[in-house]
This record gives sequence, C-alpha cells and structure tokens, in this order.
Amino acid sequence: MVELLKMTTPAQRKKAIKDAGYNTFLLRSEDVYIDLLTDSGTSAMSDAQWSGLMLGDEAYAGSKNFYHLEAVVRKYYGYKYIIPTHQGRGAENLLSQVMIRKGDVIPGNMYFTTTRLHQELAGGRFVDVIIDEAHDPESLHPFKGDIDLNKLEVLIKKHGAERIPYICVATTVNMAGGQPVSMANLKALRALTAKHEIKIMLDMTRIAENAWFIQQREKGYARRSVASLVREICSYTDGATFSGKKDALVNIGGFLALNDKDKFEEASNLVVVYEGLHTYGGLAGRDMEAMAIGIIESVRDDHMDARIGQVLYLGDELSERGIPIVKPIGGHGIFVDAKKFLPHLKQTDFPAQALAAELYEDAGIRAMERGIVSAGRNSKTGDHYFPKLELVRLTIPRRVYTQAHMDVTAEAVKAVYDAREQTQGLQMVYEPAYLRFFQARFEPL
Ligand SMILES: Cc1ncc(COP(=O)(O)O)c(C=O)c1O
Repeated sequence: MVELLKMTTPAQRKKAIKDAGYNTFLLRSEDVYIDLLTDSGTSAMSDAQWSGLMLGDEAYAGSKNFYHLEAVVRKYYGYKYIIPTHQGRGAENLLSQVMIRKGDVIPGNMYFTTTRLHQELAGGRFVDVIIDEAHDPESLHPFKGDIDLNKLEVLIKKHGAERIPYICVATTVNMAGGQPVSMANLKALRALTAKHEIKIMLDMTRIAENAWFIQQREKGYARRSVASLVREICSYTDGATFSGKKDALVNIGGFLALNDKDKFEEASNLVVVYEGLHTYGGLAGRDMEAMAIGIIESVRDDHMDARIGQVLYLGDELSERGIPIVKPIGGHGIFVDAKKFLPHLKQTDFPAQALAAELYEDAGIRAMERGIVSAGRNSKTGDHYFPKLELVRLTIPRRVYTQAHMDVTAEAVKAVYDAREQTQGLQMVYEPAYLRFFQARFEPL
C-alpha cells in the first residue's frame, strides 16, 4: 500500500498550526508531510495481517479469532488468561478497577499518562521508583528503565506491603525516552516482591523492543532470540496490560493478561460494562486475528533489527548535527531535549510544546510534546508537575517510512536548531481536565 504525502506551503502550515492551537494533536493529518506524532496504531500491516483480516469470525460470542489470539498470547507471553480490550487504556482501566483500593500506592518505573490516570481514578496514587539516571537525558546507563530497588523498599516500609497491590513495570519506558529494563533488574525485583507478596504487572506495550535491547546490551543474552527473551520477561510477572498498537503492528487492539483466576473472572465481568463481551472486548474478530499475527511478527529478530535500526539511524543523524537528544537512543523514537534546545525558555513557557509546533510550521513534520504539558497537574494540589525531562518525541511508525524520510527529518530539525533563538514560548489558553496534552490549546507569548 502506498500513501501519498501532501506538500504544504509555509503559509498553509502557519495557518494550520495556529488553527490547531499550537498543539500537534489538533492538526489534520492531511496537512502533515512526515507524521512522527506516535508509533501507536500507525504501523503498516503485513500481507499476512491483511489476509488475517479476511478471516474475521464476527460472531458475537466465542469467535475463533479470540481463541487464536489466546493461544498466541499463551505461547509467546506465557500468561494463562486474556481479555481483549479496544486498546491499552481499556486494559489499564480493568486492571486498576480490580486491583486498586482507595488509598493504595502503586509504584512504577516512571509514570505513563493513561496508566497513572486510571490508577488515580481507581483511588490509588502512583509513586515513581525508577533509577535516577532515567531523569537525566545525558546519562549513558544502558538500562535506564530499571527499578531502584532501594526506593521500592523504602516505599514498602513506609506504607506496608498490604497498601501496594502491585508494582507496574513498563517495558520499554516511554516517558524516559524508550529506555529498556534489564533482565537482572526484573529478576531481582521478582525476588524482592515475592518476599512481600506484591504482584508485578507489566505494561508490555513495547516488550519486544525491550527484549532486543537485552539481547544487544546485557551480558549473557547475546545469543538468545527476541522471542525467548520476551517469554522470560513475562515469566517474572503476574499479568500485563498490552496496547497492540505498538509492538503488535495493528491499528487498534489490546488486552489484559492475568495468571490469577479470581482476578481474571472479576475483570471478565467488568469488561462487559466498558468494552464488550469477554471474547471480543471492543474489537472485531478481524482485529483480533491481525493482532495475533502481529504478535508473532513482532518477536522476529530480523524485524526488530530493522525496526530499531531505523530509530538508531535517525538518532545518529541528529547527533552528528549537534542536536541535543536523550542518550542512549531508545526503542521507538528520538527524544529531543527541549530544555537544551531552547535554553531561553522557562519550563512554564512550554518549550517542548513550542518546539513541536515550530518543527511543524517549518517543515511539515509532526512530533509531540513529552514534558510539562504531558505531565499534567497534581490532582491534590492543582499545581503543574515539573518533570525533569522536557522532551519532543520524534516517534517512528513501524514499516512505514524510508531512510530518506529520516534524512529529511534530521535536516529539518537542524534548520530549526540553527534558528532556535526565534522560537517563542507559549501560553496555555484552554486546558481540559484529563490528559491535557491531547486537547490543550496555546497561543504564542
Ligand atoms: C507505555 C504505554 N502504556 C500504555 C499506553 C496506552 O495504550 P493505548 O494508547 O493503546 O490506550 C501507551 C500508548 O501510548 C504507552 O505508550
């Protein structure tokens, strides 16, 4: 399938970004030349996946595609029970509702926007227990997604294990720049949590990318396949939420996986309220088939070499041009350090938001903010969270763009960098109550 790209004029882009309130989420996709907003649901499906769509069994209950998906999840991830959901946050809602009681504390390796919101809506409070290096864009630690076990122990002492229903572990950590967790850290975490009878729930959205980094960087794993590493990661956990829109190469889909039968039954009951029957959970049969096939493709070593190879290529091109980016380069995109890029702006001038808007206006390339806007406000005090990382994410869809698009992107970012003093800050003129980064509107200061 070939998609035609539209070239726009500077005047058209100036108007488009103004009309979008300087928020790249509010642009029309037809006004975008190279779309690096997200890797979520934007990948190109394979011939096998497209063929799978034709095999959709659209029965209301007991679709054969559900049983195929269940068998694939058991084989590749090893979880006992699955409940399909329309996408990752549907699974986060179910998990939070069946696991969290009011006043609980949920530790995690850095927050993710939708995950934290569902924890809060269920009455819980997220606490960050990632290692400090994750908050430093220049630290070259190879596993910046690792959990700081000391921080976790302090938290257990402070609140008691009975107030911690589970720890949420993300592979790879999106908000830290796509940074992986090491196998050694997962093993140590399993030992510590077992002692306190605390469960580990994985946000396995980009697990195959995490496995690839373990294969490439962690001692003793170089000869292991991505597939076997994925299976091993899951073996240290009790369940998972999954957005099929990333690793699994589909445009829509997700699931909740659990090993505990009682919790599974509770969640199966709840899913009929929010998503649909427990054998389709908001998906068509054909969507489940495409996701099952995508999971199998996602753990192929050659696929992962090509996928992350392209991300590394763009990262190297930007580094060579002197652009400040998060290092080491992560799995699903390049994260530009907006604080360094625009040192003349305060964090309350929304530098990453301003930079994403500028990149669109200059070159028609759509990126997204991962800084103070994404971090939102503390629900108790109403104050902005002030994350250490103020980043613009250039996210690479899988199997979509060529190396030439990466070259154009690197040149465009460099052009904005050369004229960086001209980039003005923004003020927020409309702020929605939830996940404000999606719909907030801005004006130049
Ligand atoms: C790390 C992580 N967790 C959860 C989600 C939520 O998944 P979805 O967008 O499918 O609801 C995302 C999606 O962006 C993600 O990147």
